[in-house]
Amino acid sequence: MHANRNKTVINRLGLALLPFALALSTNTLAADTAPDGEVEVLNWWTSGGEAKALGALKDELSDQGIGWKNMPVAGGAGTNAMAVLRSRITSGNPPTAAQVLGYDAQDWAERDGLSSLDEVAKAGKWDEVFPQPLQQFAKYEGHWIGAPFEIHSTNWVWANKSLMDELGIEQPKTWDDFIASLKKAKDAGYTGLAYGGQPWQDTTVFENVVLATGGADFYRKALIELDPEALDSATMTQVFDHLRELLKYKDDNSPGRDWNLATAMVINGKALYQIMGDWAKGEFLNANLKPGTDFMCFRTPGTQDAVTFNSDLMIMFDTDDAQQQQMQQTMAKIIGSPEFQITFSQFKGSVPARMDLSADKLDACAQRGYEQVKSAAKNHTLMGSMAHGYAAPASVKNAVFDIISSFVNSDMPSDVAAEQLAAAVQGATS
Ligand code: BGC
Repeated sequence: MHANRNKTVINRLGLALLPFALALSTNTLAADTAPDGEVEVLNWWTSGGEAKALGALKDELSDQGIGWKNMPVAGGAGTNAMAVLRSRITSGNPPTAAQVLGYDAQDWAERDGLSSLDEVAKAGKWDEVFPQPLQQFAKYEGHWIGAPFEIHSTNWVWANKSLMDELGIEQPKTWDDFIASLKKAKDAGYTGLAYGGQPWQDTTVFENVVLATGGADFYRKALIELDPEALDSATMTQVFDHLRELLKYKDDNSPGRDWNLATAMVINGKALYQIMGDWAKGEFLNANLKPGTDFMCFRTPGTQDAVTFNSDLMIMFDTDDAQQQQMQQTMAKIIGSPEFQITFSQFKGSVPARMDLSADKLDACAQRGYEQVKSAAKNHTLMGSMAHGYAAPASVKNAVFDIISSFVNSDMPSDVAAEQLAAAVQGATS
């Protein structure tokens, strides 16, 4: 967080290496790999919709005379990207900036290697426009360390409209209706649920079922407060029962499938629904499809009153290079600006992270989503997503991933899964 290069070097290398550290060029840890006039940005935005959204940032920077060196690391939810970022930092070669999620942003800030965004934040009144549940992650010890791109939410269902029409399916309002509609699709020879069998996707679906089955208070107790009694409870057993039921409607080729390939199954009319964060909408929009006409979006039945959110934060790595510092501040300013927040979400599928904007230019799903995020923020039901690093630190998240994916890929009974979940979370927190 501080501009003090030597202090940062010492923190990272430890006191024993002090003489060596001081002998290093002051640029060793600086974000100096990007050629003059360029920012190097590590991110995992590699799908069609994601790349378009990222392109909006590149264009804005280019308008201001700043070049772009992309550092893409494919892999949803950033699991691979974080490993690459760690190795770049360990080898003393940080990028100019990186896309990160909630607890990871806090983790990087704690290591004391980030540039402060306080000046830009003050000028842009970030304290007033970004919602509190997000500020908790984008600020560290009262200082802004991340520029929020958007708010995504994970409790969405994406549906193929012509399949719904063909099968006479109305938007399901309850869990039972939801399952009945999946059954209809399966009976007619379609895949009910387009599913990507990767740990973060298993947990994205799981957290939807937690919210749908137990409601907002239960979600908070179990997945945010990590209450052992909620984790190993009759309600959690029922969550696993519901998850098991849902899994009947995926196809056999789901293991390892990327999320955007699952989205393509809905786009192409092979599958009826996908449960996924609203970055999936970016894929529909990228294929020139219109909400309400070609595809439908609705909150996962039983989750209408709450929003499980995540937000991509751009963190900037501390540097002595004055040009890089300047470009970092410019980039933060662009990301937080009203115009960019709208443009980015139009491509990305998200809603703006700023709460003070007109929704006129957003599509029908995002207009509804934006209202829901705003009212959830007021009602204390805007809750962090477990799968996307906003409910618990990475150690807990990874322990949850392990249990949920073992459940998905085995015949583990529901009560055993609940017991194991509680034990794994406890192990990760003690
Ligand atoms: C990120 C999104 C991204 C999605 C799929 C989420 O964790 O917040 O920006 O589109 O993962 O990769």
